[in-house]
Amino acid sequence: MASVSAKKVFKNYGEVAVVHGIDLDIEDGSFVVLLGPSGCGKSTLLRMIAGLETVTKGDIEIAGKRVNDVHPKDRNIAMVFQNYALYAHMNVAANMSFSLQLAKRPQSEIDEKVSWAAKILNLEPYLKRYPRELSGGQRQRVAMGRAIVRDPAVFLFDEPLSNLDAKLRVQMRTEIKELHERLKTTTVYVTHDQIEAMTMADKIVILRDGRIEQIGSPLEVYDHPVNLFVATFIGSPAMNLLKGEIVKDKAGLAVKSGDVLLPLPKGAGAEKGQKVVYGIRPEHLDPVAGKGGIPSRISVVEPTGPEIHIYTELAGEEVCAITDERLELKRGETLGLEPKLDRVHLFDEESGKAIL
Ligand SMILES: Nc1ncnc2c1ncn2[C@@H]1O[C@H](COP(=O)(O)OP(=O)(O)OP(=O)(O)O)[C@@H](O)[C@H]1O
Ligand SMILES: [Mg+2]
Repeated sequence: MASVSAKKVFKNYGEVAVVHGIDLDIEDGSFVVLLGPSGCGKSTLLRMIAGLETVTKGDIEIAGKRVNDVHPKDRNIAMVFQNYALYAHMNVAANMSFSLQLAKRPQSEIDEKVSWAAKILNLEPYLKRYPRELSGGQRQRVAMGRAIVRDPAVFLFDEPLSNLDAKLRVQMRTEIKELHERLKTTTVYVTHDQIEAMTMADKIVILRDGRIEQIGSPLEVYDHPVNLFVATFIGSPAMNLLKGEIVKDKAGLAVKSGDVLLPLPKGAGAEKGQKVVYGIRPEHLDPVAGKGGIPSRISVVEPTGPEIHIYTELAGEEVCAITDERLELKRGETLGLEPKLDRVHLFDEESGKAIL
């Protein structure tokens, strides 16, 4: 096992700069997810850690040693890609043992490692099969088996589940997490799927355009996004955002958005007249019976089963509220909504930075 660090890492492809000075410390034994939209530099960063891309400027360290000039095969890492790239002409056992054969390990050790990996990954019944005779999930497990037999210091995953159907993704997500609990091998996992990131990570690193926006535990980034980008990127349905201006009313500070007053908790550190964006997650916006709350007009009602997602129009914007109550809701009717004051977010409109 080993820690992994990026120290002021830059990457240019010719004239094009794609990674702009990333500083990142990944603790020994942790499970870190790199999350961000397509093209933000996740794979590039992972591939620089793996040694598959050169570093333009800055350092990559594994176990405290600078590895910029160390060949990928000498970095003691194992990488699993989106397309598992199994050897089609080899059976499962041969696929898993290939790297050990190449390294000329003794046959007894190879057999031991392969049967250990097959057991952990529930692949024992399939050792003699060829990749074409396996399901997507089984192939994914073989790719993982190939990585774990090498007993690397670091696992690097690049969207390993994106070729699988929804149900299998959920199952493999749990399996990878369980595997990490057992082996405790430092893992860097790339995905653009925020649910995968939330459920698997010890820490999430949110990237945008080659820069880190925020690093934190899944609930830290969900509950305390540092800016509008993180606030809208994490969470589905997304956080409701309403532009407005800070005003003073009887109860203290509030946000005036259109002709609606949005309440703020006491002690919100904003200034009168400041242009802000008011943020509230759908699950923190409660429908209220009778005349209370901020009036909104119901536009779409989506029952998901456990919950009902209610889309309404409020201050000219579409706003989503989630409830688990079985309310009678009709399109076009008025519905009062009440934000949970201790879950309100506030951002400076110009900088996008969180104020609250
Ligand atoms: N070999 C290359 N030459 C030039 N530009 C490249 C090269 N490889 C990647 N890029 C650019 O670098 C940026 C980051 O790419 P990268 O593959 O790291 O994104 P990503 O976050 O992994 O995206 P995705 O989620 O789509 O896989 C992109 O704008 C991409 O076009
Ligand atoms: Mg990628």
